[in-house]
Amino acid sequence: MLVNIAPSILNADFSNLELVLKQLETGGAKYLHLDIMDGHFVPNLTFGPPVVKSLRAKTNLIFDVHLMVEKPESLIEPFIEAGADMITIHWESTRHPHRLLQKIKDSGKKAGIALNPATLPENLEYLLDLIDLILIMSVNPGFGGQSFINNQLTKIRKVKSMVCKAPQEILLGVDGGINLQTAPLVIEAGANFLVTGSFLFKGDVIKNLKDLIEVCQKS
Ligand code: DX5
Ligand code: ZN
Repeated sequence: MLVNIAPSILNADFSNLELVLKQLETGGAKYLHLDIMDGHFVPNLTFGPPVVKSLRAKTNLIFDVHLMVEKPESLIEPFIEAGADMITIHWESTRHPHRLLQKIKDSGKKAGIALNPATLPENLEYLLDLIDLILIMSVNPGFGGQSFINNQLTKIRKVKSMVCKAPQEILLGVDGGINLQTAPLVIEAGANFLVTGSFLFKGDVIKNLKDLIEVCQKS
């Protein structure tokens, strides 16, 4: 099975993001996972469209924007203008996930939906035709470096059976606590899109990314 790795820069050195992009490209990344936090939906703040636009000018990596914000409605257009290729909203962050996913699709971009650890996957049943990526949060969103929540493996298996029945391809993503030990577990459960942050940025980024890609290929 082809497994995609989406490095998150949340735990990277923000004083030198251009170097980080080059390291990720050298390590074999195809995606860049951009964690957008507003201090309300999650208790942390990161960055917004201007930073994404600056990064867009430096790389051709596929920009996977993960919105952890209240009122995501107001941020879809700014992030598309900034260069997002995929936008993932949280099911818990809006009363109108269907409308919002439709808006992303109408803009010609890939639409993702993320589920917090306590959110039931059955909530996605009537959204499936609008979804390109389902992102299972295997930590509570807000911070890098947290431990993988094991019971999310059961959710990945449930979502796997849902995406198998969908007529279009839906990526099955996992975000939080992914490293050399947890990657084989989520792949075995059915995931094929792995977000990883703090694991990569401890020590040698290029080596860590190559090691993770190798483990994923063998799983
Ligand atoms: C958490 C973010 C993640 C985070 C993952 O709220 O959505 O993308 O960067 O970091 P690690 O891999 O450290 O769990
Ligand atoms: Zn994320």
